[in-house]
Amino acid sequence: MAIRLGDTAPDFTAQSTEGEVHFHEWMGDGWAVLFSHPKDFTPVCTTELGAVAKLKAEFDKRGVKVIGLSVDGVRDHESWSRDIEETQGVKLNFPLLADPDRVIADKYDMIHPNANDTLTVRSVFVIDSAKKVRLTLTYPASTGRNFTEILRVIDSLKLTSEHKVATPVNWKHGEDVIIVPAVTNEEAKKKYPQGWREEKPYLRFVPDPTK
Ligand code: BEZ
Repeated sequence: MAIRLGDTAPDFTAQSTEGEVHFHEWMGDGWAVLFSHPKDFTPVCTTELGAVAKLKAEFDKRGVKVIGLSVDGVRDHESWSRDIEETQGVKLNFPLLADPDRVIADKYDMIHPNANDTLTVRSVFVIDSAKKVRLTLTYPASTGRNFTEILRVIDSLKLTSEHKVATPVNWKHGEDVIIVPAVTNEEAKKKYPQGWREEKPYLRFVPDPTK
């Protein structure tokens, strides 16, 4: 069954390169990014795992744990992680889940049989501290993901959870944000006494309140 935004992220217990993971317990009170890989010892996945390891401090800064998944066993993961270190110049610094029986892949609908009936697609789930799914992405095996974009979305999700704003196209932390339509001008005057930039009555910008 497909996982939709707002659903509770399914819990699971699985082996990983960092031992047994009880997913919800492992998340604790923070956020998580769970992302899948079609298979071990594949080129695109090798570059993606290296890229995430290099960005780990950025995820840490945002209070977000990262965890990968590939439908092979821990032995293969360990051997592959040595290749990742050798070729990408960085050690795997987060757990890589083993899912040889595709239990997690099934729970998270990561296998799309019309694309490939055994390999997982490149799924991404951003999950908040209430274990609710806040973002899903599905990429084909042939296209590596942009993890800087995932950090950008996390910045938007965290900001828009705390303030009645939305973020415009290509927004990055620190840039102007949009006052959501549900906020009337009367409410907006109280919240933003310094005013706002109004391009249309429904298109009102204010500075990023966290800048
Ligand atoms: C890759 O990670 O490079 C890959 C995996 C499965 C199919 C095609 C590419």
